Amino acid sequence: MRDDDSATTDHPPYPAGLRLSGRRVLVVGGGQVAQRRVPTLIGAGADVLLVSPEVTPSLEGLAGELTWVRRGFEERDLDGAWYALALTDDAAVNQAVVEAAEAQRIFCVRADDASEATAWTPAVGRHGELTVAVLANRRPRQSAALRDVVMAGLRDGTLAPDVGQTSTAGVVLVGGGPGDPELATVAARHALATADVVVADRLAPRELLDELPAHVELVDVAKLPRGRSATQESINEVIVQRALEGKRVARFKGGDSFVFGRGYEEVLACQAAGVPVSVVPGLTSAIAVPAQVGIPVTHRGVAHEFTVVSGHLPPGHPDSLVDWSALARLRGTVVLLMAVQNAPAIAEALVSGGRPGTTPVAVIEEGTMPGERTVLSTLGTLEADIEREQVRPPAIIVVGDVVAVARPGHYAGG
Ligand SMILES: C[S@@+](CC[C@H](N)C(=O)[O-])C[C@H]1O[C@@H](n2cnc3c(N)ncnc32)[C@H](O)[C@@H]1O
Repeated sequence: MRDDDSATTDHPPYPAGLRLSGRRVLVVGGGQVAQRRVPTLIGAGADVLLVSPEVTPSLEGLAGELTWVRRGFEERDLDGAWYALALTDDAAVNQAVVEAAEAQRIFCVRADDASEATAWTPAVGRHGELTVAVLANRRPRQSAALRDVVMAGLRDGTLAPDVGQTSTAGVVLVGGGPGDPELATVAARHALATADVVVADRLAPRELLDELPAHVELVDVAKLPRGRSATQESINEVIVQRALEGKRVARFKGGDSFVFGRGYEEVLACQAAGVPVSVVPGLTSAIAVPAQVGIPVTHRGVAHEFTVVSGHLPPGHPDSLVDWSALARLRGTVVLLMAVQNAPAIAEALVSGGRPGTTPVAVIEEGTMPGERTVLSTLGTLEADIEREQVRPPAIIVVGDVVAVARPGHYAGG
């Protein structure tokens, strides 16, 4: 037995990246520590044998991806194992696992007393194909803090390990979320940090552009010349052309690229030109913006469906593909995008199709951004409320009883 201080003055650990694919790993204990470790082991392809009389519901849910033996530890559990983790809250059991593993020369982690273990679990972060692992000699907070600093640097591009490497030419459509840079996904940030060219829309979270390394070319699509339909052509041209020059292009948009984002037109343009194209999904404003202001698009017993509709054409317009009378007959939530200008005509169509004029409506302008505000209304008063409050795009309009669920005070008695 070593005392506590000896471990910190002991030789430092020797780091190694274990390649566990298809290899047996024994996990003893089914509590919270195991719940944190087991998904990573499964992600590494390990053949996990979990031994514990009880496990957390989450671990039980992983039953198809591991073997769970519902009893206490027995030495034979180590047969064939390459690595072991003693994660119970019983020191005697953990000690028995470590000793049996030592006898079989199997490296073993011990959750309750690292000084008795033959292996330590580092603080781990993943960024694309990189794995960052930090061991701070049994100071888990310090290792986690350093891991976080490194991961933040990789995500925002201030640490740029890809410099000097050849990037894969092609286009990645990146959904940037509704506007707040905090709501861009890790994958979106990674795609930006590894791009040679970023082609950005007006509604993409523009603060993230500030973080781009200096060598990255930024094409501001909001300022491309020519009219609206020609602009899409210009965008297709730019992304295809840059990719054919051997560049990695991130096409950066607001929300999700495939929700009224014309993303698939860009996919088709890439495919037609033989350019590899992939997609990073984003948080669509249709759901994220209402959620940000506390309005759910569904609620038990209130709305069993929600429909996301473009309001860029008014009801009755010859090019409209929306069946407004069918929408009016549905009971669920309607989430309208690009609908500020046509909101009065849409409200009228929904009311004449059968929705009560008292149906609650929330208009959320510049959701998740500094200018965010919510105007509460009803179908019957929407036109007047939008006019009085001078609502401007971008805005999401939520129609349905979910609005009253979230703002009961406003609609009480109505
Ligand atoms: C061309 S659509 C793009 C939608 C986007 N692809 C998405 O998934 O969120 C633009 C419309 O999305 C809505 N929108 C996008 N971001 C918004 C935000 N932050 N706040 C309010 N509405 C937003 C507005 O209705 C705007 O007119």
